[in-house]
Amino acid sequence: MLKMINSILKLFKMKLIEDNALKFKQKGINVEIHATSQIINPEKIIIGDGTQLSIGVVIWANTDDDIIIGKDSNINAYSFVQGKVSIGNHVMISPLSAIFGGSHDFSDISKPMKYQGGTIKGIVIEDDVWIGSHCVILDGVKLGKGCIIAAGAVVTKDVEEYTIVAGIPATKIKSRKSTS
Ligand SMILES: CC(C)(COP(=O)(O)OP(=O)(O)OC[C@H]1O[C@@H](n2cnc3c(N)ncnc32)[C@H](O)[C@@H]1OP(=O)(O)O)[C@@H](O)C(=O)NCCC(=O)NCCS
Repeated sequence: MLKMINSILKLFKMKLIEDNALKFKQKGINVEIHATSQIINPEKIIIGDGTQLSIGVVIWANTDDDIIIGKDSNINAYSFVQGKVSIGNHVMISPLSAIFGGSHDFSDISKPMKYQGGTIKGIVIEDDVWIGSHCVILDGVKLGKGCIIAAGAVVTKDVEEYTIVAGIPATKIKSRKSTS
């Protein structure tokens, strides 16, 4: 009976990447990375204690810049983090969001954009930020502590601390300070 219960529990347990299977630049304790995640250039990635990467998450570091993910943060199913990105502690990134710490150079119209290389400013996501589902965060943006990015937003400019933004381009809909 106990055996049967254990095998049912196993079915529901997250299938995780084995500890030390990837050579991260730095990895805290109790980090959970789903086996279906894709981690590119782990030697440029730092992940803090207790952070979870869910099903199908892609963390794609380039060869020059670190991706830093703090402690106790969750990156949910099928979200994509690429380039120069710093994510704080207790951050929640909802499913299917994309964070692009870099862009294509498109300044020369005589050449296909494909061959013009890239530009990198970097994205900073401070502590306790909640990014809703299907959001896009563009390069160069800072998301201030405690802010919320409403589902479906495209963020093109910095977001102030404890502010809720929504839409395309994302604009302020309210402050969390006035609702508490
Ligand atoms: C951002 C959010 C938390 C705001 O919730 P709220 O404070 O209850 O906001 P309200 O419902 O009072 O909406 C305030 C205004 O913003 C608008 N708004 C809310 N969410 C919006 C969104 N995602 N996109 C565009 N406008 C939005 C509302 O229509 C309303 O506009 P109005 O004043 O013209 O009527 C919520 O809308 C949201 O997007 N949550 C994310 C959900 C999600 O992605 N979950 C993933 C699982 S973790």
